[in-house]
Amino acid sequence: TNCILIGAPVDSGKARRGCLMGPDAYRVAGIADALVELGHGLSDMGNLSPAPAEAPASLPEHLVAPAETIGWTVTLADAAEAALANGGLPIFLGGDHSLSLGSVAGAARHAATQGRPQFVLWLDAHSDYHTPQTTASGNLHGTPLAYVAGEPGFDGFPEVSHPIPQEQICIIGLRSVDTPEREVMQASNIRYHDMREIDESGIARPLAAFLDTVKRANGFLHVSLDVDFLDPSFAPAVGTTVPGGASMREAHLVMEMISDSGLMTSLDLVELNPFLDERGRTAQVMVDLACSALGRRVFTRPTRAYS
Ligand code: ARG
Ligand code: MN
Ligand code: MN
Ligand code: MN
Repeated sequence: TNCILIGAPVDSGKARRGCLMGPDAYRVAGIADALVELGHGLSDMGNLSPAPAEAPASLPEHLVAPAETIGWTVTLADAAEAALANGGLPIFLGGDHSLSLGSVAGAARHAATQGRPQFVLWLDAHSDYHTPQTTASGNLHGTPLAYVAGEPGFDGFPEVSHPIPQEQICIIGLRSVDTPEREVMQASNIRYHDMREIDESGIARPLAAFLDTVKRANGFLHVSLDVDFLDPSFAPAVGTTVPGGASMREAHLVMEMISDSGLMTSLDLVELNPFLDERGRTAQVMVDLACSALGRRVFTRPTRAYS
């Protein structure tokens, strides 16, 4: 695989600063050498910066830094589309989760040029399904899934030319969903799996079912990994910790199953705030998870069925 690292020091998606240091923390944690060690081709585009943009007056007043996030969306959608068109697997080194307005929208544009469906796997404590109208916090990192699904209200943002159909979205890890998000999701065809379901039935089952759907549809698969998917006991460097997250073992299993499937075509590593880390441990966990998703194994073994 030709991995293309795209530094996305996006910090505009919420008020608390620090995610802008994420791309460099991943580099210091050795992501490039680790991927080369796994046999992949690697290029690093360095850190991008947002296109100049303005926020229209029709957006709600309480939004945090909408112009900057609009600019990032323009830049990152183009970067995603270009990396995929060059036959690479873009890895977005975030940056907060608002970077995914761009990375996913751009990936979907590329999939459309190939006449293939785009699927999205969202690994997150949160559903990130607010619109600019429903968000109480004003933090746009809580909105990317709604944007790429084509929900209305994103005035001034690039038009989503290829919205992701709800059936092609799967969220795993949920344990913090706001009321407006819950109402929209419950009436939708989004596949969502909360921590209770994972406790009761295991994490492999819903993931295997989704990967099977992607495979049957010959789809592209974008994986968006939010640090807060993980339990804060071993991944503390995130502004939105929610106790009761995925264990280290569950998280690696998810990544290994993604790797076994051979389906992943783009990846976001988001919400790492190195200012909140402990001796780099969260950055290292995220790099190790990326490596599991890209082929790192203890032993190779036949792929197993989970139904
Ligand atoms: N739902 C909350 C909000 O909208 C939290 C969003 C957290 N999102 C994230 N990408 N960490 O403010
Ligand atoms: Mn998120
Ligand atoms: Mn088109
Ligand atoms: Mn989250």
